[in-house]
Amino acid sequence: MLKPNGNYGNLKDSYLFFGISKKVAAYQAEHPDMPVYRLGIGDVSRPLCDVVIKTLHEAVNDQADGATFRGYTPECGIPEFRKAVAGYYARRNVTLDPDEVFVSSGASDELGDILDLFDASSPALVTQPAYPAYVDASIIAGRKVNFLNAGPDNDFLPLPGEDTEADLIYLCSPNNPTGAVYNREQLQQWVDFANRRGAVILFDAAYEAFIEGDYPHSIFEIPSARTCAIEICSLSKTAGFTGTRLGYTVIPKELERDGMNLNAMWIRNRTTKTNGISYILQKAGIAVFTDEGLEQLQENIMVYKENARVIMKALDAAGIRYWGGKNAPYIWMACPDGMKSWDFFDLLLNKVQVIGTPGEGFGSCGEGFFRLSSFGDPEATKIAAERIRKIVTADK
Ligand code: MLT
Repeated sequence: MLKPNGNYGNLKDSYLFFGISKKVAAYQAEHPDMPVYRLGIGDVSRPLCDVVIKTLHEAVNDQADGATFRGYTPECGIPEFRKAVAGYYARRNVTLDPDEVFVSSGASDELGDILDLFDASSPALVTQPAYPAYVDASIIAGRKVNFLNAGPDNDFLPLPGEDTEADLIYLCSPNNPTGAVYNREQLQQWVDFANRRGAVILFDAAYEAFIEGDYPHSIFEIPSARTCAIEICSLSKTAGFTGTRLGYTVIPKELERDGMNLNAMWIRNRTTKTNGISYILQKAGIAVFTDEGLEQLQENIMVYKENARVIMKALDAAGIRYWGGKNAPYIWMACPDGMKSWDFFDLLLNKVQVIGTPGEGFGSCGEGFFRLSSFGDPEATKIAAERIRKIVTADK
């Protein structure tokens, strides 16, 4: 008889955000007249910028005309899209061959798919708290996961020690969920460690567009990263593509392990497992990386940054300690009065109809913390922030 993948038995009952959405839906079914204020999943609320919308319309028209109609696109990406991404990196003095850029349907999809490149016997190292897909996708693939704990003591930026066990290293900076961001010297420590060990870093750069200070946006700003890193990024948070779906992955041509070239392996994988990404979306992605696109998308990022300020101000007023919010769209707060994170989730949902994300959902060392997202509607964010301030200060 066919055997199912038994690794599913090692997962938690439901994926974090799926579980939360079920809880919220149940609350709404019981309280249909009660508006809820969403600072939970990092889903954008602003529409796509004008140049992207205009380009999407143009691309649809292209598909309506025999002279411009496009069928399958190249599996690894339309050359102009790959060039546009390489051009974006060149703005930060990172030189990429467009053939090192692969189109994807988004970072979360890719973070699971990319595991095809590595033998399941190589353990993963996840800095925790972490985006839960790193852990769940590794478990589904039958990979052992080791954790390196982040906390207030290391400003949520753990670094490798000589005894750290790691083959496949997940790093996310700016970090989801904590908002912490590694500086150059710290990322250099990770790169040197990975090169010494023959490990590979999977660098999740999904939040790079939120960086304000002098921090690396890409692992490839760090010397020697080309021999030990893969970067996965998406337009979801950069350009509001959460519902549109487009991303990219960078695999340097010199990245090899055990005599096998990972760039060549990924070509082999994509040409087998995909038929490319929609022409319409890639054309819109090219528009994102034009001067006009990059300027326009800043308007939305500024709205989200203002939301973050509103949330941080409310937490300051409530005397609550928090991290992030400046170089990242997430604010990572300590739960008030030592509360457990799911208890605080229930309190906010039931008493003030605010949805956030319990820290425990990002791993055991997220217990006692809570994540607030700044991607919400500005008016709803103001109401939610004031409600959080009030309920936290109510008994003080
Ligand atoms: C999050 O809330 O952590 C993210 O929006 C989830 C994602 O990007 O898939």
